[in-house]
Amino acid sequence: MTEKVEIKIQDATFEAPVVVGSENERAIDIGNLRAKTGFVTIDPAFMNTASTKSAITFLDGEQGILRYRGYPIEQLAEHCEFVEVAYLLIFGELPNEKELLRWRTLLTRHSLIHEDMKHFFDGFPSTAHPMAVLSAMVCSLSTYYPEEVDLSNKEQLEITYARLISKIRTIAAFAYKKSIGQPFVYPRNDLKYCANFLNMMFSVPAEPYTVDPETEKVMNLLLILHADHEQNCSTSTVRLVGSSRANIFASMAGGILALWGPLHGGANQEVIEMLEAIQKDGGDVKKYVELAKDKKSNFRLMGFGHRVYKNFDPRAKIIKAAADKVLSKLGIEDPLLGIAKQLEEAALQDPYFVERKLYPNVDFYSGIIYRALGFPTNMFTVLFALGRLPGWVSHWKEMMEDPTTKIGRPRQIYTGAPARDFVPLAKRA
Ligand code: SDX
Repeated sequence: MTEKVEIKIQDATFEAPVVVGSENERAIDIGNLRAKTGFVTIDPAFMNTASTKSAITFLDGEQGILRYRGYPIEQLAEHCEFVEVAYLLIFGELPNEKELLRWRTLLTRHSLIHEDMKHFFDGFPSTAHPMAVLSAMVCSLSTYYPEEVDLSNKEQLEITYARLISKIRTIAAFAYKKSIGQPFVYPRNDLKYCANFLNMMFSVPAEPYTVDPETEKVMNLLLILHADHEQNCSTSTVRLVGSSRANIFASMAGGILALWGPLHGGANQEVIEMLEAIQKDGGDVKKYVELAKDKKSNFRLMGFGHRVYKNFDPRAKIIKAAADKVLSKLGIEDPLLGIAKQLEEAALQDPYFVERKLYPNVDFYSGIIYRALGFPTNMFTVLFALGRLPGWVSHWKEMMEDPTTKIGRPRQIYTGAPARDFVPLAKRA
């Protein structure tokens, strides 16, 4: 028996069915509200509005829970490789041996970009932000694979997903090499996903290079932790672009552009720049905690706060622990880690942050590790995109496979001028 609610609107009562999720989340289905009452709802930034049902990721912001397809992030982070988690998100189950081998082989076989695409990099200044390059290049992949994605052709779809997840890695590494004037290093079929990426990023043709297994391990961990996060800004962008039936490459490029924002994935770059500024200013964290509370200053504690998590971001906990481990294993003393910890401690004892339930999020400590691995700060959000791509693909797939999917087109409430007649130029004041 479907649960229902009644909404009193003027002298009528609107009855609406309640949608109950597998974790007992509840939503009021207002699908025929306007038709029945002439009213629409308004909810800027969708603070209270579900845009869809989804079986991919579950978040509980109050408890600090994150699960991909039902598996707790802590277990996936401990036991999996990134390519396994990518498969889980996209196809819904952890792959068996045969499936994993086939998926790994697809990713290996589709890592090269068309040789002509190399020339695209010549047009970018060496100072170009790699997120601008990444979005342009991912969208440009559609010119090399113009064929309409046929949702009934499982084989073609798997290759398309593999092309995106594999080639974004090559494009990211090439963008970095272009920015430092070094030759592109091609993907190698004898290396696994993360080792291949690290080799393309950090090896040079002039001398041998071996990927450090510890670095490979922590790269896998970070990509897993960034792989999906339900209907965040960039994933919602992917869904909205995809809902117009724009091609999958355009949808992913839209996700990359939304992720770039400093309030979203761009925060991982902002955090390091903030920590460097605090260090340069003598390391007085209390001063910056006060600044973050001062509404007159537009300073925010980057890497702090979250729309959904009103408790610790479970990813931040794992990354913070990994930062200590990685830096000590690599023998790196990074003063920014100390400043970050002092900042966290000061903020979490301050009523302003406690009352607003502002905790460190995924971006607060990730940059510390990326720095230790040798990535430049402006590549951090690119690394976020590499991790998030399988999540975006899984949401695109879920949306495209849903027969009820329609083009996303929100309503609005008009507050502009009432109807008025045209005034010829000569008669305007
Ligand atoms: C990601 O959605 C996702 O899942 C995103 C993500 C993912 O995996 O996809 O988790 C990745 O984007 C993480 C967030 C990265 N962004 C940052 O670290 C930027 C800094 N944080 C904020 O700007 C903010 O916390 C947001 C954007 C993350 C969330 O903003 P909301 O939900 O719109 O909340 P808000 O801006 O309305 O803040 C509520 C209050 C305000 O104070 P009051 O008006 O109530 O007095 O908290 C304050 C804000 O001023 N506040 C902060 C703060 N974050 C919120 N004050 C100081 N420093 C901060 N970081």
